[in-house]
Amino acid sequence: MFPVTRLRRLRRSQQIRDLLSETSIDTGKMMMPVFVDETTDRSVEVSSMPGVRRYSLGLLGDYLRSLEEAGVKSILLFGVPKVKDSMGTSAYDRNGIVQRAIELAKDQTDLVVAADLCLCEYTDHGHCGIVRGNEVDNDMTLDIYRKIAATYAEAGADIIAPSGMMDGQVAAIRETLTDSGFKDTLIMAYSAKMASSMYSPFRNAAESRPRFGDRRSYQMPYGNLREAMREIDEDVREGADIVMVKPALFYLDVISEARKRFDLPLATYSVSGEYSMLVNAVRAGILPEESIYEAVTSFFRAGADIVITYFAEPLARGDLSGI
Ligand code: PBG
Ligand code: ZN
Repeated sequence: MFPVTRLRRLRRSQQIRDLLSETSIDTGKMMMPVFVDETTDRSVEVSSMPGVRRYSLGLLGDYLRSLEEAGVKSILLFGVPKVKDSMGTSAYDRNGIVQRAIELAKDQTDLVVAADLCLCEYTDHGHCGIVRGNEVDNDMTLDIYRKIAATYAEAGADIIAPSGMMDGQVAAIRETLTDSGFKDTLIMAYSAKMASSMYSPFRNAAESRPRFGDRRSYQMPYGNLREAMREIDEDVREGADIVMVKPALFYLDVISEARKRFDLPLATYSVSGEYSMLVNAVRAGILPEESIYEAVTSFFRAGADIVITYFAEPLARGDLSGI
């Protein structure tokens, strides 16, 4: 009686396959990145990210309500400010673009509101910290991150998400939040963030490309798994509530190892380059739409609890035909 084991029994019909499926896409656990743009009073398509737009503050409310109607439960805010300078001062303006967007989102929706905390969109040199000589100065940068965190918390952010990869950033922000009475604000740490080519379309979207050099003195070498675990471990000690692996698609092993080692909620960020690769391939008829479900399923299968993706809206809507 050969073969005895017949695994194809598990696949005999769609109903049986559904019953036995191990991983499903949970759109309630996806976070939608949102770009809010102080330089326009319209919405502008991001040329490097087909289907993704930047919204003026005036149009943001309608857009966020449309996300909610689609079934999106949480957003991650990024700002494009009018003014950039060497210190990134508009990043910690109490009436800055992200601060006002947080207020608006909390006022007008029930979305969970997370805000990316970094300096690259706000500095004229495009680095994620304060530049001294030819270097990004870690500890001077932390003082600025504290100021940004205080304004985000005052504006009512549910979650603050520091993405600059400075040492001690989570501890500095946690201390600032505690000292200013914001004991309930969550920190989602971009813990294992690689120096990846996959951020390129985002840097067009957020106008945050470094004017000189690159980010390799602060973001991680992409080949290093053990170092990624040290980064996560450090953020756990510093008081992070949620840790993150970024990007996602080329880093499933990092997600899986983090899942095994840590018991905190684990997020992964499927970044702009992953989005643009898939959208362009689908639009060109080279890949079927199904490839997007396959990619997102792989993040959950690898062990992510939260998936940050530009597909969050179309997936929540259950309709990828518009991409
Ligand atoms: C800012 C930041 C970046 C991304 C999220 N926060 C870009 C970068 O580090 O250059 C990337 C997001 C994406 O590519 O979708 N530090
Ligand atoms: Zn940055």
